Amino acid sequence: MTPRKIIIDTDPGQDDAAAIMLALASPELDVLGITAVAGNVPLALTARNAGIITEICGRGDVPVFSGASAPLRRKLVTAEHVHGKSGLDGVELFEPGRPLESQDAIDFIIDTLRTEPEGTVTLCALGPLTNIATVFERVPGVVSRVREIVLMGGGFFEGGNITPSAEFNIYVDPEAADIVFSSGAPITMMPLDVTHKVLTTAARVERLRGNGNRPSMVMADMLEFFERFDEHKYGTDGGPLHDPTVIAWLLDPDMFSGRRCNVEIETVSELTLGATVVDWWKVTDRPENAFVVKDVDSDRFFDLFIERVGRL
Ligand code: BDR
Ligand code: CA
Repeated sequence: MTPRKIIIDTDPGQDDAAAIMLALASPELDVLGITAVAGNVPLALTARNAGIITEICGRGDVPVFSGASAPLRRKLVTAEHVHGKSGLDGVELFEPGRPLESQDAIDFIIDTLRTEPEGTVTLCALGPLTNIATVFERVPGVVSRVREIVLMGGGFFEGGNITPSAEFNIYVDPEAADIVFSSGAPITMMPLDVTHKVLTTAARVERLRGNGNRPSMVMADMLEFFERFDEHKYGTDGGPLHDPTVIAWLLDPDMFSGRRCNVEIETVSELTLGATVVDWWKVTDRPENAFVVKDVDSDRFFDLFIERVGRL
């Protein structure tokens, strides 16, 4: 089996780190590069954090590129209240040994889409969609070369997590999300409706820790910091592990269910800015532009996640 080529576009973030670990632990995937974007914390930190994670996984060979430092037309909103000041609070951090690539993330994505055979590169988007929208604006011709965009973002039945109607990744750069959802690229969307079912319960974090390898211990420590905010907010045992659902989709899509529908992004209303308006019940004839995932077998997800991180 030839591994599936992916680029991970990300703003680490402990749950982004979990997604990167799951990808690097999985032989079905070939991580061509990691592109950082500003989101949970400013760009200098998300880029550094991506490098830290690759090194913790023993994969300092994976190149990390730095991308957009601010949303297309708005001021950056960050989420230190969830992730801590560093973006990866909960563990001891260090400066990565391998420097960032000198090439910009946007150029790396464009070059990769141009040079790899058409329809072979999947973009995994774990943060605001600024980098990907910039690629599509700059070179519209590469859109048709993308195999699939799998993104964590939005929420519909579940509402929002940064405002009552918007999820963080879409809220930070709604114009970018609008460009991506209107691009015509095949999109699979992991909204809060599914990620809120993937909870880092104490029992699951203990099982992860039981793997005993360094990446599992680091991830368990990070998750214990990360979940404190959401446990308080939602009153749950554990918090949602959003971003790894994107990678799990590539590894075992049968654990998920959803449907194709139209998704539009609110970019005007101050009240509902960044809302993802999902036509789940097909009450319009707007074209289907995304596969929207709503449910997951969360035990199956954690079996996969814990087993894979244990391999690192
Ligand atoms: C998303 O926002 C970020 O804080 C997380 O990393 C995830 O990508 C969840 O709304
Ligand atoms: Ca993220």
